[in-house]
Amino acid sequence: MDFLKKNIDKIVGIGAFLILALFSFRVVLFLTFSPPEENSFMATAYEGLGIEAAPVVDRPVEHPRQMEWSFDGRFGHFDKAAVRRGLQVYREVCSACHSLDLIAFRNLTEIGYSVGAAKAIAASYQITAGPDRFGDMYERPGILADNFPAPFDNPAAAAISNGGKAPPDLSLMAKARADGPNYIHSLLTGYVDAPADFIPNSDTTTYNPYFDTWEIVMPPPLFDGFVEYEDGTEASVEQMSKDVTNFLMWTAEPNLEARHEMGFSVVLYSLVLTLLLFFSMKTIWRRLKP
Ligand code: HEC
Repeated sequence: MDFLKKNIDKIVGIGAFLILALFSFRVVLFLTFSPPEENSFMATAYEGLGIEAAPVVDRPVEHPRQMEWSFDGRFGHFDKAAVRRGLQVYREVCSACHSLDLIAFRNLTEIGYSVGAAKAIAASYQITAGPDRFGDMYERPGILADNFPAPFDNPAAAAISNGGKAPPDLSLMAKARADGPNYIHSLLTGYVDAPADFIPNSDTTTYNPYFDTWEIVMPPPLFDGFVEYEDGTEASVEQMSKDVTNFLMWTAEPNLEARHEMGFSVVLYSLVLTLLLFFSMKTIWRRLKP
């Protein structure tokens, strides 16, 4: 008891210090490593960007197939070759309907393209620019500073060409849906025949058990051999879907690798700092011992 009374200030001090240190580790771990659906800080940020969460209905949907992705986990990284194949799938298939507003051609240098190659990809698109000095808009080949052009001029035009539903922008899709990558992959590969007792609400939809209403306006976008990969990878539906998912994860979070590295160094730094502070405290308080 005597010992407790004498040392109560130190005990409280060390206790408070430990609690604070543990709490800050948890905060750092949480902010750097947890997925956005568990992470209200990130979720609010996405909400601020105007990204809608999927509407909730009471019919249970199929749980996305759980895949292994190179970007999963605390030290996850992008498989750059898969991301580049995914870009090809986006360009040759998805871009007919979906925009990718937040990605500029210059960003392609981050996934292994040289500046020259990124310029060539940019130049293969026609961009509406202007107005010129006569007040007219004109078309010119894309440059590195341009973003990917949208397939439709506005959401109304997009909806009217797609059975009444505008195809959503894909830039942040991998983050805008719960379990994003698994969901996108399951959705793209999940078209199956509807069970006999399923009554669709509309004749412009296709049955897909991973979509929240079980019927999606997007027709099955992928078929075996749809694209021809430069690196000789076989273009099965499963493969193309995985690749485009890798690509969409990169577009949604291009700084994932930097974030993981930063998280690791911050945790390491905090550990060293904790030790230093602990021993400094010991040294400073030593003189005051009875
Ligand atoms: C023929 C046009 C078309 C093509 C091609 C197409 N989509 Fe879609 N997509 C749509 C439409 C329309 C919707 C909206 C569906 C709805 O809300 O019912 C949609 C919705 C989506 C969604 C969102 C589902 C959700 O939860 O809201 C994802 C993800 C998606 N598409 C990915 C892709 C990918 C990846 C590709 C390329 C492999 C692709 N789409 C190709 C028309 C298309």
